Amino acid sequence: MTERELIEQAIKGRMYSYAPYSGFRVGAAIETKEGEVYTGCNIENAAYGPTNCAERTAIFKAVSEGKRSFSQIAIIGGKEAGSIVTGYATPCGVCRQVMMEFCDPGDFKIIVAKSVDDYIVYTLKQLMPEGFGPNNLEGGCDL
Ligand code: THU
Repeated sequence: MTERELIEQAIKGRMYSYAPYSGFRVGAAIETKEGEVYTGCNIENAAYGPTNCAERTAIFKAVSEGKRSFSQIAIIGGKEAGSIVTGYATPCGVCRQVMMEFCDPGDFKIIVAKSVDDYIVYTLKQLMPEGFGPNNLEGGCDL
């Protein structure tokens, strides 16, 4: 799927954003290596802490249906209504860590969009250098 097509899916996911507290509406769409797409939105909560970001909603939807290998994710977020926003919503640290669990840092693409034709593409490794992932546990413990 093209970057533009995945951003279109993220924009659709954003329509369901539940953000009554921040007013910051985020949509995400993640593509599996087999080409399926799972969308997500941020889901806020009156107790604030249980809030789930759009990226994790999309990833957890996919993982809960047995999908664990991903090629790219598109993210679009902002206070504006509609499909064009004024800033790039880069993923929070918790979402980057969740991506580390299921995505190859060197290959996985993170597309941060303001619109379908205004976006930046990062790898997970760029946004999470020296991140901790499943491979770190394979070496065992030195203690
Ligand atoms: N949020 C996301 O959904 N993804 C991001 O990448 C950054 C932040 C949400 C969480 C919260 O509902 C709102 O945006 C403001 O932080």
